[in-house]
Amino acid sequence: MSSIQHQVDLFPYNTFGIRHKAKYFTIIRTVEEAQALFSSILFKSNRHLFIGGGSNILFTKDFEGLAVRVAMKGKEIIHEDENTITLKVAAGENWHEVVRHCVDKNWGGIENLSLIPGTVGAAPIQNIGAYGVEIEKNIFEVETIEINTGKLKIFTHDECLFGYRESIFKTIFKDQFLVSSITLRLTKKNHLLHLNYGSISETLQHNGIKNISIRDVSDAVIQIRSSKLPDPKNIGNAGSFFKNPSIQNELKDFLKIQYTTMPSFRSQNGLVKIPAAWLIEQCGWKGKKINNIGVHQHQALVLVNYGGGSGEEIWNLAMKIQASVYEKFGITLLPEVNVL
Ligand code: EPU
Repeated sequence: MSSIQHQVDLFPYNTFGIRHKAKYFTIIRTVEEAQALFSSILFKSNRHLFIGGGSNILFTKDFEGLAVRVAMKGKEIIHEDENTITLKVAAGENWHEVVRHCVDKNWGGIENLSLIPGTVGAAPIQNIGAYGVEIEKNIFEVETIEINTGKLKIFTHDECLFGYRESIFKTIFKDQFLVSSITLRLTKKNHLLHLNYGSISETLQHNGIKNISIRDVSDAVIQIRSSKLPDPKNIGNAGSFFKNPSIQNELKDFLKIQYTTMPSFRSQNGLVKIPAAWLIEQCGWKGKKINNIGVHQHQALVLVNYGGGSGEEIWNLAMKIQASVYEKFGITLLPEVNVL
C-alpha cells in the first residue's frame, strides 16, 4: 500500500495556494494501490478527501482526515476507425496536457476546453465546460472504483447524468466512487467546430485565420483565457468561484425593466441563466482587493489569493458577495468550488 504521511501542508495541492494541513496524506498511482487503500483500517476509520489538481477546492480549515492525491497515469487507444478514436485516459493525467496531445494528433472535440486547470479524473465529476462545450459531449464512459467494495464499475455516458457543472458523482453517488479513468470519443476528420461562444470567432479573425483547424481553436481559447483568467502559478485562484445562476423567466423580465443591459441566456426547463460575473460586477466587487485577497480585475467571477491570504478570508469575501447579490437582485449565488 502507498505510504501514509502525517500533518502534511496542503499548499502544493490547491491552486488557491492556501496553507492548511491534512492529518494524513497519501498518493495513489495505480488502481491496485487505490483498492488496497480503500480496504485499509486507516481509510475506513477516517474521513477522506480525493485531490486531483486541487483546482476546484477552498480549504478554510485543516482537514482532519486522510487526503488522497489521485495520480494514476496513462493513455490508451481503445478503438479506432476511419472517423473516430476512442481514447482511455487515467484520472491523474493533467487535463490541459491531454487536450494538447489530442490537438497534436488532430483528434477533435475537446479543443474548446484548453487550459482548464485540473486533472482528468475531476473533469467528469463537475462536467467541466468552457466556450460552448462541456466535456460530456465527448465522454463515452467513465471507469470508477467503488469505495466501499474496491470493485471497478463502468458508467456509460448516459448513466453519468451530466448537467451544468453536475454529474451523478456529485449528487446521488457523492463520495461513493473514485473516477479511475475516462474514455473519450473524438473525431479524426470532419471536426465539428464550436466557434459561436464569446470572442472565439473574433479572435480567429483577428489572428487572420481562414481555414480553421482544431489547433487554431485551441490556440484562440488559450489566448482568450490567458487574457482574462489569472494563472494559478502566479495568482492563487480556482477559476469561477460561483456557478452561473438559473432564474425564472418572470424574475428576468422584472429585473430587465431596471437593468436593461443585464445579459441572459436560455437554460434548461424554461429557466434563464444570468452570468454571475455580471451580477458581481454590478455590486461593485470587480477588482476589489482586501488585504491579500480579492476579486479579479478582468473576471468578476474569479476570487483570488495574491499570496498569504487565508481560506477563511476568501470564504468571508464570498459570503459578502453572495449577500450583496441577493440584496440587489434577489438571486442566490451558489459556490462552484468545493469549500472545506
Ligand atoms: N461578465 C461581466 N463581468 C465580468 C466577466 C463577465 O459582466 O467581469 C459578463 C459578460 O456579459 C459576459 C458574461 O458575463 O458576456 C459571460 O462571461 P464569460 O464568457 O467570461 O463566462 P462566465 O459565464 O463568467 C463561464 C464558466 C467558465 C468558462 C467561461 C467561458 C461557469 C461558472 N464559468 O464563465 O469556467 O471559462 O464560461 O466559457 O460556468 C470555471 O468553471 O472555473 C470557469 C472558468
